[in-house]
Amino acid sequence: MDGVEGSKEKAAGIGHIFKFMDNIAGKGNFMLYEKHIFVCVNQRPEGARICCGEEHGLKLVQAFKEEILKRGLKVKVRAQKTGCFDICETGPNVMVYPEGIVYGKVMVSDVPEIMENHIVGGKPVDRLRINF
Ligand code: FES
Repeated sequence: MDGVEGSKEKAAGIGHIFKFMDNIAGKGNFMLYEKHIFVCVNQRPEGARICCGEEHGLKLVQAFKEEILKRGLKVKVRAQKTGCFDICETGPNVMVYPEGIVYGKVMVSDVPEIMENHIVGGKPVDRLRINF
């Protein structure tokens, strides 16, 4: 399909991208998702500065992704790995946008609580929160 109809068909499948682009162009809102969860997976050589660790970080990413799927939030919430936030001593660290809230010493067992209270309920989990 070509022309306008073809464009509409394509746009329907990637509507959230167009919404994102509209936001950039007009409203100054750059969020592609309602909540974006960044999990540090940085790993350093043995003997270097402490780090969140790739293995633990990847387990956290997987746990968040499973919770997102289980709750039917895939379009609204994204979890992904990222590099060092330079707050390594409090790791494993997780950052949630748009609030910019940082959680430290996060274990896989903490993920359902973060999802339920913060991501779904809008109330950050104070016991894990790092205040700067
Ligand atoms: S290694 Fe994770 S914050 Fe630095």
